[in-house]
Amino acid sequence: MLKVGIITSGGDAPGMNAAIRAVVRYAIPRGIETIGIERGWGGLLDNSIIPLTQKSVEGIIHLGGTILKTTRCQEFFTPRGYYKAMKVIKENKINALIVIGGDGSMWGSVQLNEVSGIPIIGIPATIDNDVAFTDETIGFDTAVNTCIEAIDKIRTTARSLERIFLIETMGRERGFLALQVGITAGVGVILVPEIKYNIEEVCERLRDFKQRGKRTSLIVAAEGIGDTSAIAENIEKITGFEIRISKLGYIQRGGAPTGRSRLLANLFGTYAVDLLLKGVHNKMVGLKDGKIISTDLKKVINTRKKLDMKLFTMAKELAV
Ligand code: F6P
Repeated sequence: MLKVGIITSGGDAPGMNAAIRAVVRYAIPRGIETIGIERGWGGLLDNSIIPLTQKSVEGIIHLGGTILKTTRCQEFFTPRGYYKAMKVIKENKINALIVIGGDGSMWGSVQLNEVSGIPIIGIPATIDNDVAFTDETIGFDTAVNTCIEAIDKIRTTARSLERIFLIETMGRERGFLALQVGITAGVGVILVPEIKYNIEEVCERLRDFKQRGKRTSLIVAAEGIGDTSAIAENIEKITGFEIRISKLGYIQRGGAPTGRSRLLANLFGTYAVDLLLKGVHNKMVGLKDGKIISTDLKKVINTRKKLDMKLFTMAKELAV
């Protein structure tokens, strides 16, 4: 009988629980025993393991975060860490792992597989959507919607006081979240780390908006572009326009997953189990042009996902 360990690691993402549920509920009837490893790689090192049954994943599909909890564990990413993890895997007679997380988790999966030989299937889940070989990660759509809701609220106060707002989104050093949020919230200026910006041009755009009768403007900036407070101050100094900053912070990672994030979790979770049943190992599942695919984990971690420049141009043209 196959015994599969499920891990959620790195930053949590809404929909991780739906993915855990999908894996467990699809695997058990197919003769697989499922166990949960708590607190990501850290829990693997501490032998923190719990059984996962059809019953224990009841009532979690709508919950954000992860019932297995997660950590960013530095100790794991050392030769000693990999060795310790390997020992725990052997002691618990675990035959394969399903790792749910972002690019760091996929990277850790490759390292662990190389040291221990344990077969691994990755499921991409991060609000950053910065994992290659998947158009979307679990949790991204939820975070986009959380940001839109916040910006819609900011917009009403911005309009009343005729102020400019700079809204900072997460995304680490990538701009996928900021770009999608910027387009869908209909903001005038989007700043992402992948596209060099010129502060004078940003100010000129804001002046232009004002001249054309726009009483308020919104800027969405990815956290990865640098000190957004300093950028806002600079814009204020150059233009003389009153500007406020709103850093959306950790609300972006919280809350119930959207239908889309849940659907992706179900599709990815069941596909991951199918791969293990077929004896396919060391792949990450993903979504490509509406289809569920799988890609070698090594290829995933060695590829930088590209930002869609067409989306950026479109956003710029539509926000006038
Ligand atoms: O990886 C998701 C993410 O939310 C990033 O967008 C953000 O930069 C980071 O995690 C924050 O990490 P932490 O929870 O460790 O502060």
